[in-house]
Amino acid sequence: MKQDHNVFPPFIGDRMPRLEVHTTLGKRILPDDYEGRWFMLFSHPGDFTPVCTTEFVSFAKNQAAFQQMNCELVGLSIDTVYAHMKWIEWIQTELGVSITFPIIADELGNVSRRLGMLPREGVKRTVRSVFFVDPNGYIRLILTYPDELGRNTSELLRALKGLQAADAHGVAMPANWPNNEIIGDQAIIPPANTVMKARERLEAAQAQEFSCFDWWFCYKDIPVRKETDNS
Ligand code: BEZ
Repeated sequence: MKQDHNVFPPFIGDRMPRLEVHTTLGKRILPDDYEGRWFMLFSHPGDFTPVCTTEFVSFAKNQAAFQQMNCELVGLSIDTVYAHMKWIEWIQTELGVSITFPIIADELGNVSRRLGMLPREGVKRTVRSVFFVDPNGYIRLILTYPDELGRNTSELLRALKGLQAADAHGVAMPANWPNNEIIGDQAIIPPANTVMKARERLEAAQAQEFSCFDWWFCYKDIPVRKETDNS
């Protein structure tokens, strides 16, 4: 892949750049091969490292929960595909956990550089990045964690669930949703952006269509998909 060093890494809201990648499960084209599904692309600093091993085990143990939400997992580091294979073999043998998601072998760093996963020129170790890409190929969330802190799988699942609920109901999710300190598991209606809409909001709240603290802070119940609900 030719590198253009003047290209900025993508940001949330951008389309995921089209990338041909080599993985432990063969060639993949991102995001095209995942059209119609979400995927979580995550980089790790390196194979055979302890924090990364704990992350891989946690992601593998929660893979079914991601898939129940129509989301596939894709790993990445700048290690070779052979290193990936030996490492997941070790995880299987020593920890009894099968890693069945594909892991990109980005030996030349071209994919990581394009996505801003390398901290700076010359550093040959990806940071712990997470990209959530939606079924239309758009980047919806980017997280970056440092070497010394493993990611929280529950938060990643919460983020996915929140993004999907926001899309399904045209709402925004509050802090700590679905356990927000003010409105619990209710969702926020996007703020009115005209005087007329602000008036309509307050009238609708008076008619008990939803609740408002003020014209710019209205909220409502949404159906929340339970973990055990496979519908
Ligand atoms: C780890 O995954 O354990 C790790 C990776 C890079 C630097 C330090 C720790």
